[in-house]
Amino acid sequence: MEKFLNLISAEMAGAFDAAGYDSELGKVTVSNRPDLCEYQCNGAMAGAKRYHKAPIMIANDVAAKLQDSKVFSSAEAVKPGFLNLKIREDFISDYLGKMSRAEKFGLETPEKPASIILDYGGPNVAKPLHVGHLRSAVIGEAVKRIARYHGEKVIGDIHLGDWGLQMGLVITEVSKRQPDLCYFDPSYEGEYPEEAPFTVTELEEIYPTASKKSKEDPEYYAEAMANTHRLQEGDRGLRALWNKIIEVSVADMKKNYANLDVDFDLWWGESTVHDTIPGMVADMKEKGLAYESNGALVVDVAKESDTKEIPPCIILKSDGAALYTTTDLATISERERLYHPDEIIYITDKRQELHFQQVFRTARKCGLVPESTELRHIGFGTMNGKDGKPFKTRDGGVMKLSDLISDINEEMRGKIASNPEIGPEEAEKTAKQVALAALKYGDLSNQASKDYIFDIERFTSFEGDTGPYILYTIVRIKSILGKYAAAGGRDLSDLRIGLAQSKAEKDLMADLAAFGAMMDNAYAEIAPHRICAYIYQLSNDFNSFYHSTKILSEQDTQKKESWIALLKLTLDILSTCIDVLGFSAPERM
Ligand code: ARG
Repeated sequence: MEKFLNLISAEMAGAFDAAGYDSELGKVTVSNRPDLCEYQCNGAMAGAKRYHKAPIMIANDVAAKLQDSKVFSSAEAVKPGFLNLKIREDFISDYLGKMSRAEKFGLETPEKPASIILDYGGPNVAKPLHVGHLRSAVIGEAVKRIARYHGEKVIGDIHLGDWGLQMGLVITEVSKRQPDLCYFDPSYEGEYPEEAPFTVTELEEIYPTASKKSKEDPEYYAEAMANTHRLQEGDRGLRALWNKIIEVSVADMKKNYANLDVDFDLWWGESTVHDTIPGMVADMKEKGLAYESNGALVVDVAKESDTKEIPPCIILKSDGAALYTTTDLATISERERLYHPDEIIYITDKRQELHFQQVFRTARKCGLVPESTELRHIGFGTMNGKDGKPFKTRDGGVMKLSDLISDINEEMRGKIASNPEIGPEEAEKTAKQVALAALKYGDLSNQASKDYIFDIERFTSFEGDTGPYILYTIVRIKSILGKYAAAGGRDLSDLRIGLAQSKAEKDLMADLAAFGAMMDNAYAEIAPHRICAYIYQLSNDFNSFYHSTKILSEQDTQKKESWIALLKLTLDILSTCIDVLGFSAPERM
């Protein structure tokens, strides 16, 4: 379906043309003076120079052509040359009727969908998920769903950190605690045990202990490095132990991500591409692009146009070890080989910007992907505590994601339990659902690149720009529709949206009509916050309409049915938007 704003712009363009002016001038925008008009066009101002005429004269000429418009109920030329516009009630209600009947509310699906690989989540094996990983998961999941809703083919890949020094550290610490394990016996030839020699809780304690020791004790560090190397070289016992680390850690991650309603199509890790690295490196050398510098193998990526220095990309360290960069490059190659994506998008902390700049430039220079493949890094800001500093636990430690989720669930439980209509079991489930909305909306409503303050009280409030407020609005609509049905109302699909009866109703209608353009924008800009801003306004306008209109007690059936149809469309659009953002609404709360 043509976008609402495009339709009204086309009408305006026709009027400019009919009045003898360039139709290009007829662009319509949402009014920035909603007290005066609904939409506006500033084309006459722009045309004044070209036509050597006062803008108001042009505006008058154009307005004269719009007197019997099927789109505008009024088009008023005002000084110095603006066109103030109001939409005809029948035009907007017809449009909403078409939207209600169309698939995806009329949002068009691209003829040829783009294939996109989305790299998000990025947790590290054997380390507990912390709040930094929350943002990648929450933003990534929303971006994936936005692109899919738009009609693109998206593959989500978690890109586990499963291959670096942290693995060597965990192995080293296990070898200290349980030196007799068969994994460490070079002469062992049997099968390795099914059961892991640690629980996830132990694992989460092992890594920080090992990391601390390695910083204090150079010998310990050297041992961890050697173990990392042996693991990467394919030592049978260490590989078997490493598999156990992954198994235990990934099982726990899956639980955590399921709680967040986040899921991945691929569970690749840095290790997945290990065996492809030598071939890739040989190719880079052969092409004369990778060369030795201070013992390391590097590719130059600086450009003359750079305003700040971009250091060479290190491919192999002097001991021949692969780095974070190397596995990212090999992963690009592997993704190209298997999927030929049109685009690869990475969602990480913005402090990794330089890393991705180097990786992307190297990938291009070495021809790992065709020129046409887009490589994009979406860097997000830090989640801060109320003190404006990176979010910490009460005693100053790194906040585990599972603790943060428990905290917000706890806060929500208190609020939901106070509703006497809801029994304890439903309250528990609802609290979790609303808490997730609070958490995700609190994050996604900020432009991703900005830092934001994690404020549990604000995020869980039922009022203001919050997830619970949006859910509350949805629940309110569901409740009205439920009452309408219970009172023997007609089937919702038989009802038609009629003419707006009030300003509040028309505002709500205008919001609904803007859905398609908003969704397109959110996809084009990879901007979940646009959807949040949209549903916040939609909810506000719905609530104003609700407070000024007695819907269920209305005696005029036609009016009542039109309102019910309008509520249904509002509900469907809100529900679609929150689903795309990655959360859902309960039946009541
Ligand atoms: N594991 C990394 C970290 O915790 C993030 C990985 C992001 N993805 C990537 N392809 N580099 O910082």
